[in-house]
Amino acid sequence: MKNVGIYYFSGTGNTLRVCKLIKEELEKLDAQARLIDLDAPVGKADEPENFDVFAVAYPVHGFNAPQIVIDRLKDFPQGDKDYYIIKSSGEPAPANRDSSHQINKILGKKGYGMMDEFHYVMPYNMIFRHSDEMVGMMWARALQAAPCDAREIAEGGRGEIKQKLRHKFISRLFMLEHGGMRVIGRGFKVDMKKCVKCGKCVKNCPVQNIAFDGEKFTFGKKCLGCVRCSFNCPTGAIRISVLEGWKVNGAYKIEAAEYDEAKVCKYCNKSYKKYFTAKGGNSIEKQK
Ligand SMILES: Cc1cc2nc3c(=O)[nH]c(=O)nc-3n(C[C@H](O)[C@H](O)[C@H](O)COP(=O)(O)O)c2cc1C
Repeated sequence: MKNVGIYYFSGTGNTLRVCKLIKEELEKLDAQARLIDLDAPVGKADEPENFDVFAVAYPVHGFNAPQIVIDRLKDFPQGDKDYYIIKSSGEPAPANRDSSHQINKILGKKGYGMMDEFHYVMPYNMIFRHSDEMVGMMWARALQAAPCDAREIAEGGRGEIKQKLRHKFISRLFMLEHGGMRVIGRGFKVDMKKCVKCGKCVKNCPVQNIAFDGEKFTFGKKCLGCVRCSFNCPTGAIRISVLEGWKVNGAYKIEAAEYDEAKVCKYCNKSYKKYFTAKGGNSIEKQK
């Protein structure tokens, strides 16, 4: 029985949903899978040597992996296990393709072997809110792809990843996003007229960047831009500085969303069509 470790970071739950789906599919194939949340440092018992193979899962942030994922992987010991990448993003945009380059460099230097990447398009948690119909289509596609991807992991399949020069260029250029978010994050504000002082934002921030002294909120210098705070704020009280116009507040009902292709907006229908009509799994080579 194959024992798979799935290390994940999920700002607002999309990536976690995909990981849970793949875990369920692995278990149907008689493999064992354990989800390890990268919000916290990885303990000895969860290190890659405890698994036959592992996966690293993350939401694409500015055509790259979030800083917290990179930092946690830097702490991994040397090893020789194979790994897969599972990533979720709001668009099937080809520029998302090379978002794992930092991860692959870090893990490659430590001796780990990259096998394949799986790219799941999930609802945007920033920029604009996807319609329920689009969300339904994304989830339907995820349900279709996950069994194939799980099988590939269970069987030790390998994908041939060739990145185009222009995608490499875009993701390297957007590495500036990490530093940018640390600056922008300091400018987040809470509208105290709306705030119900539930403390969710303070408790759930993955990098403990938010403090509340009973009267005033302070946002520190460590923001990842994962938007967990503003996305989950029950009253939409958190203003995300210059990104306010792109804010998406409130969870999607992904599993319950209706699938109705006829209702999908023109832009989405065109740019996402290839992704929705792809056959088999979500190995990025199949989505060229
Ligand atoms: C700061 C930030 C940057 C993002 N950058 C991209 C991007 O470059 N490409 C993309 O397709 N989606 C992008 N997204 C959308 C997320 O990748 C997408 O909604 C993802 O499924 C969120 O996963 P999560 O709920 O696990 O955090 C971005 C979201 C945030 C908050």
